[in-house]
Amino acid sequence: MNLKQIAGEKAVEYVKDGMVLGLGTGSTVYYTIVKLGEMVKEGLDIVGIPTSVQTERLARELGIRLSTLGEHPEIDLTIDGADEIDPNLNLIKGGGGALLREKIVASASKKEIIVADEGKLVGNLGERFHLPVEVVPFSYAVVMRELEAMNLRPVLRKKDGKTYLTDNGNYILDCRTGIIEDPEKTETELNLVPGVVENGLFIKLTDMALIGTKKGVKEIRHIS
Ligand code: A5P
Repeated sequence: MNLKQIAGEKAVEYVKDGMVLGLGTGSTVYYTIVKLGEMVKEGLDIVGIPTSVQTERLARELGIRLSTLGEHPEIDLTIDGADEIDPNLNLIKGGGGALLREKIVASASKKEIIVADEGKLVGNLGERFHLPVEVVPFSYAVVMRELEAMNLRPVLRKKDGKTYLTDNGNYILDCRTGIIEDPEKTETELNLVPGVVENGLFIKLTDMALIGTKKGVKEIRHIS
C-alpha cells in the first residue's frame, strides 16, 4: 500500500464545487492534484492557487484552472504536505523548498488540510527533520552567523553541486536544530533576523491532517 497515495487521494473528499483551492507542493499532495485533475475532467469546477512552479506545471498539465492570490486573496481550502507533524498539528515544512509560498497560501486559507504518511508524525518538532529557513542571498553569510549563535546549526542547501535557489530566487539554510522546545518562539525569533524571509515552522495553521497508515487513512483534527 502506498501510504502517501491513500492520504493524498483522501483529501479530495473535502473539495467542493466552486472552491478556490490552495495547491501544496510535494510527493504526497501530488496524488491529490492528480485526482483533482480527473475530477475536473468529469466536471468539477475549482480554481487552484499553486504554491510552487512545480505544482503550477503539474496542475496545468492536468487541466486544472489556475489563478493568483492577487485575484483570490481568500482561499477556501488548501491541501499540502509536511515534513514533520507534532501532536498539536504544528509542522515543519520546506523540504521541497516551497515554504514561503506555502506559508503565505496557508495563512490566506480558511482551512488547511495536511496529507502525509505516518512517518511524518513526531512527538516534538525538530526530532527528525531539519528546519528550512529561506534567506535573501545578499544576507546569507550574516544570517548563518546569527543562526549559529542561536545554536541552530545552519547548512546552506545545495542541489547538484550548486547553491539551491527557491522559486523566489532565495537561498535555504537547513538547520539541524534537534528538538524545538518552543516552536512558536523559535518561529518568531527566526523571522526577526534581518535577511530571513521565512522559516518552515507552521504554527496553528493546520485544521486537519490526513495520515496514511497501514490500516488506512487516519484523520487528526485540531482541537482548539
Ligand atoms: C515543500 O517545500 C514541502 O513543504 C512539502 O510540502 C513537504 O516537504 C512534504 O513533501 P512530501 O509530501 O514529498 O514528503
